[in-house]
Amino acid sequence: MTTLLPCEPAPLEPFGVALHAPRPGTPVDAIPVAALRSLTRDHHLVLLRGFDGFAGPEEMSAYCAQWGELSVWPFGTVLDLVEREQPEDHIFAAGHMPMHWDGMYREHVPEFQVFHCVQAPGAGNGGETTFSHTTAVLRDAGPDTVARWSQVTGTYHRAMEYYDSTTVAPVVDAHPVHGAPVIRYNEPTDAGDDSFVNHPDLTFTGLPADELDAFHRELRAALYDPAHLYAHAWRTGDVVLTDNHTLLHGRNAFTSGAPRHLRRVQVLGTPPLVNPGLVR
Ligand SMILES: [Fe+2]
Repeated sequence: MTTLLPCEPAPLEPFGVALHAPRPGTPVDAIPVAALRSLTRDHHLVLLRGFDGFAGPEEMSAYCAQWGELSVWPFGTVLDLVEREQPEDHIFAAGHMPMHWDGMYREHVPEFQVFHCVQAPGAGNGGETTFSHTTAVLRDAGPDTVARWSQVTGTYHRAMEYYDSTTVAPVVDAHPVHGAPVIRYNEPTDAGDDSFVNHPDLTFTGLPADELDAFHRELRAALYDPAHLYAHAWRTGDVVLTDNHTLLHGRNAFTSGAPRHLRRVQVLGTPPLVNPGLVR
C-alpha cells in the first residue's frame, strides 16, 4: 500500500505515522484515499504535514466525502473549533477537554475524524489534541486489571447546544470493524471545578462504590501514560486523520486568546455504526 503514497510514512511516538509533503504545495488529494484509510486503520492516527490543505470548509467537506458518509450536525459537516467569548460548553472554552470518543451522544458513531488546523495556537500556548491508544492500554494493563475494568459500565448524560442525550456503554468493548479490545470512557471532571463549563453527568456502575475512585485513577493514569498518549502540537496546515473506534481524545488547555482554530469532520463507517449505547 505504501507504494501508492507520495512519501514514506514516518513513525510518530508512541503510535501513529506522519506523511510529509514531498514538495510544497502537494495537495492532500494527491494521496489515494484508500491508502490513507488503511494507513489510519493500521496506525490509528495519520498526520499530513506540509500539504496544501483546504481553502475553506466546503472544500474540506468535499474532500472528506471521498472517505465515506459524513456526520451531519445542525451546523453542517464541518465543526469550527475556536474559543468563544462566552462559551456555553467546554468544547468552546480554552480549558482542558477530558478524554472521550466522538459520537458518544449521537445516532451514529463515526469511524474516522479528520482535523484541519486553520491556525495553530502558537508555540508555548498549549492546546495540543491528546489521543490515547486504548487497545495498547488494555494490552499493557494485565488480565486482572482488564477483568476489573470490564465490569464497569458508564452512564453519560450531556446537554449542550447540539444535543441532550444519554449513553450507556461498557468501559471495555470491541472495535466494531475488527473486534480488537478498546476502551469507551468519558473521563470524569472535577465537579467542584467552576472553571469547567457545562459538566456532564457521569455515573459508573459494576464495581463496589468504594473501588470506583481507584478504578478512575488507574484508568486515567493508563490513558495518559506516555507509552499510550500522543499529544499533537498543531502547526498551521496540519491535517490529522484518526481512528475514533480505537482512540479516545481530549485537549490540553491553551492560553485564552491564542488564535487556535481547528476544523473537524466526522466520517461514518461502512456501513455507519448505529450508536449501541444511545438511550435517547
Ligand atoms: Fe471530540
